[in-house]
Amino acid sequence: EGSKLWGGRFVGDTDPIMEKFNASLAYDQRMWDADVRGSRAYAKALEKAKLVTAGEMEQILQGMDQISDEWTKGVFVIKPGDEDIHTANERRLKELIGAPAGKLHTGRSRNDQVVTDMRLWLRDAISTLTENALQMISTMVERAAAEIDVLFPGYTHMQRAQPIRWSHWILSHAVALSRDVDRLREIRRRVNVLPLGSGAIAGTPFNVDRELLQKELAFEGISLNSMDATGQRDFVVEFLFWASLCLTHLSKMAEDLMLYSTKEFSFVTLSDAYSTGSSLMPQKKNADSLELIRSKAGRAFGRCAGFMMTLKGLPSTYNKDLQEDKEAMFDCYDTVHAVLQVTTGVMSTLQINQSVMEAALSPDMLATDLAYYLVRKGMPFREAHGVSGKAVFMAESKHVTLNQLTVEELSVLSPLFGSDVSSVWDYRSSVEQYSAPGGTAKSSVAAQVEHLRNWLNRQ
Ligand code: ARG
Repeated sequence: EGSKLWGGRFVGDTDPIMEKFNASLAYDQRMWDADVRGSRAYAKALEKAKLVTAGEMEQILQGMDQISDEWTKGVFVIKPGDEDIHTANERRLKELIGAPAGKLHTGRSRNDQVVTDMRLWLRDAISTLTENALQMISTMVERAAAEIDVLFPGYTHMQRAQPIRWSHWILSHAVALSRDVDRLREIRRRVNVLPLGSGAIAGTPFNVDRELLQKELAFEGISLNSMDATGQRDFVVEFLFWASLCLTHLSKMAEDLMLYSTKEFSFVTLSDAYSTGSSLMPQKKNADSLELIRSKAGRAFGRCAGFMMTLKGLPSTYNKDLQEDKEAMFDCYDTVHAVLQVTTGVMSTLQINQSVMEAALSPDMLATDLAYYLVRKGMPFREAHGVSGKAVFMAESKHVTLNQLTVEELSVLSPLFGSDVSSVWDYRSSVEQYSAPGGTAKSSVAAQVEHLRNWLNRQ
C-alpha cells in the first residue's frame, strides 16, 4: 500500500514526472485557510451525525488550528507526496492527532471539498476586489468634483468633436467601473453557495447536516444537486469574464491617458511614481504603468477563453481537467487586484495642464452649436447641419477660423444668422447647454458626482 490518501488499490509507484504533473499544491496552497475552515465545519457536522465523538471533534479542531498556525507563520512543511492543499492538510492532521484524523474525510470527497474551498476563497477575493474598485471610483469622483470647471476637447473616432468637461471624461470611466462593482455583487451571490455534503457525485449517505455546514461557513445557499455542485465551474468562468470586462474598461481609460500625456497633447502629466525611463534615451519618461494596465485585459481574456476551452465537451461531474480552474482564477484575481491599485495611484497623482487643455479647444468644435443656433431660430436640424457644414467649408476656404466669419458672410448661407451669432463662440456657454441628465453642463456633471457619492455610500 502506498502512502497516498488514495493508495489502497495501487501496487506500483507513481512515475515522478506524473507525480509532478498531477500535483496542484504549488498554487492551490493559497487556499489553505479556506481548506482549514471547510474541515473545521465538516468536523462539527460529523460530530452532530455521531460519526466522530465530541472528543475526536475537539482533537480535529485543535489539529486544524495548529495547521492554520503553521501556515500563518510560514512553517508548514510540505512533504513529498502532498498532492494538493487538501491532502497536505489531512496528512499533517494525521501526524498531529493520529487516528481521529482518518475520520475527517467520512462521506467527503475532494470533489466537494475543492469546490467548497474555491468558493470560500473567491468570496473573500471578491470582497477585496470590491474594496479596490470602490477606492478607485471614489478617487475618480472626488477628482471630478474638484476639477469640474476644467474644459477640454472631446473626441469621437479620435477626431475633435465637442468641448466637454474634463470631469465628464473622468466620470464616464467611473460609471463603467460602478457597473463592474454591481456585476461582481451579482456574481458573489452565485459563488456564495455551499457544495460541501455533495460527496464525489451522489451526495452523502450520512446524516451530515448541510444547514449546519452552511451556517458555519456563512454561505447564502446550499447547492441543489450534487452532480452539478461538484462538476460545474460556471462561477469561475463568470469571475474570469468579469475580470476581462473590468480590465477592458481600464484599458480604454489607460489608452486615453497615454494619448493625453504625449508631448503633442500635453493635457496631463503622469507622476514620476508611475513612469519609467529609457536605458538609452535620457529624455524619455514612459507611461509604463498605463501600458501595463492596457495590456492586462488581454491576459485575463486569455485565461477566460482558455478555461472555457477546457470546459467545452467535458463530461458531467468531476474530471481532473477542472484542476485548471485555479491558476486562471488566481491569476485573474492577482491581475485585477494589482491593476486597480496602480490605476488608483495613477489617478490620484496625475497632474492636469488646464491651460493647455482649454487652449486646445477650437471654434470648429462649435459647428454643432452653430447648427443648434439655427434650430433655435426655427430651421429643421438636417438643414441647419448642412448650413453649418457650409460655414465650416467657407471658413476653411477663406483660411479663417469658424468664429471669424462675419455676419454678412454667414448671411449668404442663411438669412437666420444675426449679430447674436457671436454668443455661439464661447466654450463655457457651449457646454452649459448640455444640461439634460447625463450631459456635460456643470449642473449635470455635479449631479453625476452626487449620484456616485450616494451610490458609494450605499456600498
Ligand atoms: N487538486 C484537485 C483539483 O484541484 C482536487 C480534487 C481532486 N479530486 C479527485 N477526484 N482527484 O481539482
